[in-house]
Amino acid sequence: MNEIQTELKNQLEKYRLQKIEPFMEEDDHNENFRMDIFRELGSLGFCGMTLPAQYGGSELSYQDLCVALNEIAKSSVSYSVTISVSAMVQNIINEFGNEEQKQKYLPELTSGQEIGAFCLSESGSGSDAASLKTTAKKVDGPTGPGYVLNGAKMWITSGGIAKTYIVMARTGAEGSKGVSAFIVEDGTEGLSFGKKEKKMGWKVSPTREVLFQNCFVPEANLLQSEGDGFKIAMAGLDRGRITIGSIACGLAERALDEATKYALDRQQFKQPIFDFQGLQFMLADMATETEASKLLVDRAAYLYDNGVSDQKLASMAKLKSTDTAMKVTTDAVQILGGVGYTSEYPVERMMRDAKVLQIVEGTNQIQRVVIARSLKKAYQK
Ligand code: CAA
Repeated sequence: MNEIQTELKNQLEKYRLQKIEPFMEEDDHNENFRMDIFRELGSLGFCGMTLPAQYGGSELSYQDLCVALNEIAKSSVSYSVTISVSAMVQNIINEFGNEEQKQKYLPELTSGQEIGAFCLSESGSGSDAASLKTTAKKVDGPTGPGYVLNGAKMWITSGGIAKTYIVMARTGAEGSKGVSAFIVEDGTEGLSFGKKEKKMGWKVSPTREVLFQNCFVPEANLLQSEGDGFKIAMAGLDRGRITIGSIACGLAERALDEATKYALDRQQFKQPIFDFQGLQFMLADMATETEASKLLVDRAAYLYDNGVSDQKLASMAKLKSTDTAMKVTTDAVQILGGVGYTSEYPVERMMRDAKVLQIVEGTNQIQRVVIARSLKKAYQK
């Protein structure tokens, strides 16, 4: 970790222990997202870390962003993922938006005043993202040319609390080439939200259906050209999968910390349970897998920072780190035993929060598809 990253980590550690940690148990129970926490993280510079200064960003690296998300995730995966998805939206607008779109939408996102959300999945199209059915029909609207959106997006992180939605909708034929990407603002007529999902974990982060019913979006809100939406979404996910990896590593680190401290403290058979070799081997594996995952995530972020777009490595980082988070949090509950299964300790929440990391931003089966396809491509050259 370099000097900037150590400073970021220390600042965030102090912040999360004072402002997030004390409320996590209660907020998880009540499924309560605190906008003031998100906005405060924004005012401290953590919501637009990698964006150019001209749009309110801090021009830090993707590796720096990963350090920050990792640290926040040690207390709250929910706030970390809210920032991560909003960062993905910012990256998409910054990379694929025109100057007008960047100036209009980025500053309120980089400052953390508002949240961004990414709308790709539908009830019938999860892993097979190119089969999405939401339509965007080109029309001459009352205020000029635009598109009328109809359809329903599902499992949208920050649905209902976000202001800026990147929405993939069909403007052309079936398949990936018929998909376009739009920026839709909360408050647009015809945009509404479904019920808040009752989830196993990520309880502080609201997940809702996002509905479009004759929702008119001006032509100025189309990203790039018609038919570019699928590639825009995939490119966004390539970045997002790295930050999901950094969140998974934060979760694994915290679970390992809880389990090690407990094992050293807890006495059974007149000795700390840490002294039983069976537990030592478990903890050694947890530590090794966590470290390996961190290195892979860091490598993926490093390559991205250096202009190498490596889809395979982003998928490997997401796959390895989220499987690690699931294994390490589950083992942490096992080491804590009965109390680990109660809300007296945070490890049961961590185990619940880990599960969906293996599902979001492409299931870990889809990550294997991406990795295998990339291998095949390399060998076919
Ligand atoms: N970058 C740029 N272009 C890409 C790309 C990438 N990473 N991946 C694919 N493309 C391009 C391809 O080159 C291809 O272009 P051409 O036709 O010009 O050659 C086109 O896109 C279609 O690609 P594929 O044929 O590979 O598409 P596919 O239908 O076989 O699907 C897939 C590939 C990898 C399975 C993809 O559908 C996928 O990633 N599915 C998972 C979806 C997903 O991750 N959903 C997550 C929802 S969002 C979320 O969870 C966020 C949240 O709120 C937390």
